[in-house]
Amino acid sequence: MVSAGIAAPILTYLIRPLFGGPPRKAWVRIGKLEELPLNVPQRLAAARRVVEGWETVDSQVTAWVARLPDKIYVFDPHCTHLGCAYRWNQQSKEFVCPCHSGVFSLTGKVLSGPPPRPLDTYAYEVRDGFLYVDPVPIRHPAGGSS
Ligand code: FES
Repeated sequence: MVSAGIAAPILTYLIRPLFGGPPRKAWVRIGKLEELPLNVPQRLAAARRVVEGWETVDSQVTAWVARLPDKIYVFDPHCTHLGCAYRWNQQSKEFVCPCHSGVFSLTGKVLSGPPPRPLDTYAYEVRDGFLYVDPVPIRHPAGGSS
């Protein structure tokens, strides 16, 4: 009886990848929704600790968050050309990448420059007024917006 109690979780752990079950999302609380101004993207960061077996890895999750009246966009902070860090330009109201002059709209659409596709996004949830993100980049097809 005891051995079945030990063997079942181990067996589940070992065979789960064979059945292709979806990986669990690693939600990170990154900010308070009411503190995000409308139409002015903010760069948010939060500490993350991942424990895998005996190993503990501390890292930082960063995202650009654009809160629009009807939708929230949570962007991976890396340009989709070669991965440089881009910034929001409040004067032009565009995301601008300094490396090769890539320009993206408020919704992540490519406006000019070499980026081959819109900004990658992160899945998000709002719980109890806080924004949680799963920092796994989601790619979007060329020509579209995020
Ligand atoms: S890395 Fe951003 S435009 Fe090249």
